[in-house]
Amino acid sequence: MVRNVAGVMAELESEDFYLLSGVEQGMRFSEWVNREKLPKNSGLTKEEVDYRIDRCMTRELIERKTIQYEGYKLTVEGYDALALRTFSQRDTIQGVGAPLGVGKESDVLEVQSFKPLALKFHREGYTNFREVRRERDYTSDNHHVSWLYTARKAAEREYDALETLFPQVSVPRPVDHNRHAIVMAKLDGVELSKAKLASEQVTGVLELILDEMASAYDAGYVHADMSEYNVAVGEQGITIFDWPQAVPTDHDNARELLARDVKNIVRYFRRKYPGEMPDDVDFDSLTDAIARNDFERLDAYRD
Ligand SMILES: Nc1ncnc2c1ncn2[C@@H]1O[C@H](COP(=O)(O)OP(=O)(O)OP(=O)(O)O)[C@@H](O)[C@H]1O
Ligand SMILES: [Mg+2]
Repeated sequence: MVRNVAGVMAELESEDFYLLSGVEQGMRFSEWVNREKLPKNSGLTKEEVDYRIDRCMTRELIERKTIQYEGYKLTVEGYDALALRTFSQRDTIQGVGAPLGVGKESDVLEVQSFKPLALKFHREGYTNFREVRRERDYTSDNHHVSWLYTARKAAEREYDALETLFPQVSVPRPVDHNRHAIVMAKLDGVELSKAKLASEQVTGVLELILDEMASAYDAGYVHADMSEYNVAVGEQGITIFDWPQAVPTDHDNARELLARDVKNIVRYFRRKYPGEMPDDVDFDSLTDAIARNDFERLDAYRD
């Protein structure tokens, strides 16, 4: 997990954020932003920039590298700080709490508002970027792949999907979005992979999940990464989360992806609860029924 920047937020002043925004702006054009661009980008005097650079370097919000020129870039923590600042200015959140989960490409934290919410920082291009760099250590800006851009796009895609699907589909209620971060309702219950369903609950829970997949398809999306790790089961029912890779139903591969999602989830139930599940499932007709949003309960996945 990336270091939690919440601890330094209280020490930061408005001008520190001007500097961070100035670096962010420059990163649209190059990986390392020339120090000479910073006064203009941040609206600070040269002296003020010097002072703010020191403060932000000490807190590891920016990194320095001298190539042909002295360049700076945001660290992930610096980018997180900018998003947190925006959420706090909008009164979306009042504080940051404990980690709720670490995904392959995200860090999820509890945040305080009137009620506890969840904040998901997307890490998409960042984790890939680290791998790419190890393979070929390029320093030229020609190949500049900005993780800021990749992570921000992923967050936008996820937020768009949540806004379209909520409340018709049982997904976390979207609350706010900025840069690579989204704020949403906290999940009720535990991940399906960790849930121990009583035998009489098994088919009912699977039906609820398939029902939500059908509603999502009806609302215009295929999740495209359905698994026991992206469904929560609680007292109030089930919630499907983790939507950045969702694909619109008018996409060429939508049906294929829906079929794969259906197989993933039904096969998980068959592996974990073999005694409660039919041996044979007609996946084609089940997928058809879900796409039409009119499947008839258990009958649809029995031969
Ligand atoms: N709204 C939420 N409320 C509480 N916990 C959450 C919430 N969203 C995500 N989490 C926790 O954070 C973890 C990672 O979230 P999510 O699955 O959305 O991220 P990811 O990086 O895309 O995951 P994956 O590893 O599946 O690619 C989840 O497994 C879950 O435990
Ligand atoms: Mg996930």
